[in-house]
Amino acid sequence: MSVTRLGYMHARVTDLAEAKRHYCDTLGLRITLEEPGKLYLKAWDEFDHHSVVLEEGGVGMVKMGYKVETDEDLSTYENAAREFGCVTERMTKGENPEVGDGVRIVLPSGHLLELYSQMTCIGTDVGIHNPEVFPRHLVGVGVPRVDHCLLTTSDVQTTERFFIEALGFYPTERLQTTLEDDAHLIGTWLSTSNTVHDIAFIEGPDNKLHHWAFELGDWSAIGRAGSIFAMDDVSVDVGPTQHGITRGGTIYFFDPAGNRNEVFSGGYVAYRDRPAVTWTVDDLAKGIFYVQREVNERFTSVLT
Ligand SMILES: [Fe+2]
Repeated sequence: MSVTRLGYMHARVTDLAEAKRHYCDTLGLRITLEEPGKLYLKAWDEFDHHSVVLEEGGVGMVKMGYKVETDEDLSTYENAAREFGCVTERMTKGENPEVGDGVRIVLPSGHLLELYSQMTCIGTDVGIHNPEVFPRHLVGVGVPRVDHCLLTTSDVQTTERFFIEALGFYPTERLQTTLEDDAHLIGTWLSTSNTVHDIAFIEGPDNKLHHWAFELGDWSAIGRAGSIFAMDDVSVDVGPTQHGITRGGTIYFFDPAGNRNEVFSGGYVAYRDRPAVTWTVDDLAKGIFYVQREVNERFTSVLT
């Protein structure tokens, strides 16, 4: 039993046509369903129907979906969330197009999480029979898949405890004031798989999105993404650079509505018995941006 991964990020955008140019022409996602005021999109190496939902009107995150293995997991996590003190409700098949029954949980951070076990599988762009290693006609950056998100919470400690105790995640890296036992927890990077993080939280206002990320294969893909961003006049926040925390290669950038996205590559392979790395706030800048060792004001203040 486990939560497997970030399945979808559902965000608001101010203008759907602009968003379409960004997510489809620049990043290379493909539209799998259009509804009035809404787009459903997937990346080329994802099997399920969609991994990004864009809704016209405003900016910021509406909700996120994490996929679990079985229907039975839904009741298990529903009970665990209730015992933790979270508000939950059942969602039924079709409430989200192509998504099965699920459980909706209001996190201690105020964000809305949907757990589900079924989404219509439409397959990757290369299939599963003698597949090519990538599709020949990738568009723009050609991101293969959605990877993780970073959200803010006024209580990192409780939010982390919820993900560990109720959902079975484990921390790979933590940011705290000091190394003392009574140190204040400022950030946590949590995995539910072998990726270095499937979700992360840093201290800030509740129910806000810092960014969500798309995976890229390696450093050279990050560099190439930077070139595409220049060609398409994408607003770049930071990068290309590397994180100390997670060791990933990165570029942070904004969609036309102002939601921050990331392309992320590498990081180490995580596993449950790997002791969590501890960062102290005196070396925060190196943890976030390992090469420059400085964090711009925008990076910590712009949330949606
Ligand atoms: Fe990230």
